[in-house]
Amino acid sequence: MSWGLQNRLAHIIKPKNNRTVMLAIDHGYFLGPTTGLEKPRKTIEPIRDYADTLMLTRGILRTSVDPLCSTPIVLRVSGGTSILSPLSNEGISVDMEEAIRLNVSGVALSIFVGSEHERQSLLNLTKLVDQGERYGIPVLAVTAVGREMTRDSRYLGLCCRIAAELGAHIVKTYYCEGFEKVVENCPVPIVIAGGKKVPERDALQLAYQAIQCGACGVDMGRNIFQCENPAAMIQAVRAIVHENKNVGEAYDLFESLRRNY
Ligand code: 5RP
Repeated sequence: MSWGLQNRLAHIIKPKNNRTVMLAIDHGYFLGPTTGLEKPRKTIEPIRDYADTLMLTRGILRTSVDPLCSTPIVLRVSGGTSILSPLSNEGISVDMEEAIRLNVSGVALSIFVGSEHERQSLLNLTKLVDQGERYGIPVLAVTAVGREMTRDSRYLGLCCRIAAELGAHIVKTYYCEGFEKVVENCPVPIVIAGGKKVPERDALQLAYQAIQCGACGVDMGRNIFQCENPAAMIQAVRAIVHENKNVGEAYDLFESLRRNY
């Protein structure tokens, strides 16, 4: 790994404990004005300093994040589809030069294993990794799951391993039963998505279990920004990821912070 690539990776995954709390706010790239992100700046500003990394699109970065913000950025660079069309038909949506101009610490792209456009999405990943290696920019591969895919350890293990084999530096996937096998068989760090909004204790449980199974952190969106108190929730997630708190301790923290905001 080149010095630049290692250095940027260290912005995303904190070297002190090899963990990260990424805040995913890229949903609009195919969902449009997602609940909780209608006014992105209003959502992002109060919580961005609690995130180790923000994962978002260039449109939201330019319009809704202060350029003086020091939180590292992982830029979503795949897209081209909407919720109204087959999602797997993505292309690379941002040039690597533009990513560099935006001073990002990494780029993110979805792969759609087993879908109609599997080959295209995997070759998008290899092109991006080639460019990432050229310029020292780490690539995060998101294992997107179509409605028809079962989110089990066999399927997610397949997706994560393929992403790593094709050169991804970090993989983002979903927690599932037998998740330790998914982690064991993937030679690069794994972060988990939170998925759709669930009660806070359940989301904290998900983060806790993923960490216990060897994930290096979370790249969580809706369970933070759709929470009635996003600042309290992201701090509770941090307690699990960075302070090895258990679910009860993190939930108590959430409750006490929630009352104070
Ligand atoms: C979509 C994504 C989203 O960022 C991802 O789903 C994370 O957000 P959430 O925690 O809301 O699931 O990568 O492909």
